[in-house]
Amino acid sequence: MNPKVLILGPPGAGKGTQSERLADEFGVEHVTTGDALRANKEMDISDMGLEYDTPGEYMDQGDLVPDVVVDAMVQEALSDFDGFVLDGYPRNDHQVEALEEMTDLDVVLSLSVPREELVDRLTGRRVCDDCGANYHVEFDQPEEPGVCDECGGELIQRKDDNEASVRNRLDTFEAETAPVIGHYRGGEDFVAVDGDQSLDEVWADVKSAVESNA
Ligand code: AP5
Repeated sequence: MNPKVLILGPPGAGKGTQSERLADEFGVEHVTTGDALRANKEMDISDMGLEYDTPGEYMDQGDLVPDVVVDAMVQEALSDFDGFVLDGYPRNDHQVEALEEMTDLDVVLSLSVPREELVDRLTGRRVCDDCGANYHVEFDQPEEPGVCDECGGELIQRKDDNEASVRNRLDTFEAETAPVIGHYRGGEDFVAVDGDQSLDEVWADVKSAVESNA
């Protein structure tokens, strides 16, 4: 089975955490626009006639990077794989239409979590500077403080995980991305998952949704 999974939800809902588990369990690729853009934060986009000259200037404030930059990244990534977990895209109506041109989907998962819980999760998140593994200062601690269990790398705080950027990201989600979830809701491949449970409880629901829909 090479499922094509789309995972939706607000910043901090657990998309990245659950996508990693799906990629391991089903042997598919984790395609994440957030990680792809972070790896290209300083990319020169000054010839595109946009407001800023690099993706990082949009990201650190919690604004969306322009579609023209992101669409091209997703198109290229999806063409390389039979099965995938797509995380972080689409985030607005234009991106929904672009994705429909690129691929079909087997299952669309939507994680929901209350807003103040999202603020706690994001401001407490720590990520490995080397391998990108996710931790939380309270909910998902490494064995040794500040050190990645997977690779021994240093754990750092993402620049957009300060409270002001987090609140802007949540507002941007409400304005631009909540309608995307409305677009998929009601489709036969759509599964709503309660993201306000423990990591393992969310995983049990996510795994069973993919097994029964793919
Ligand atoms: P992106 O990297 O996609 O960030 P995001 O959507 O804000 O999502 P996060 O990665 O912050 O959260 P997540 O849902 O993956 O949660 P996680 O599993 O880490 O995008 C960053 C930026 O890039 C955007 O702001 C934008 O500028 C740009 N961008 C990206 N895609 C774009 C697009 N398509 N178009 C335009 N611009 C784009 O979990 C969070 C924390 O909670 C962790 O610490 C984790 O340990 C903890 N946690 C997870 N699950 C649980 C649980 N069940 N219980 C307790 N703690 C939990």
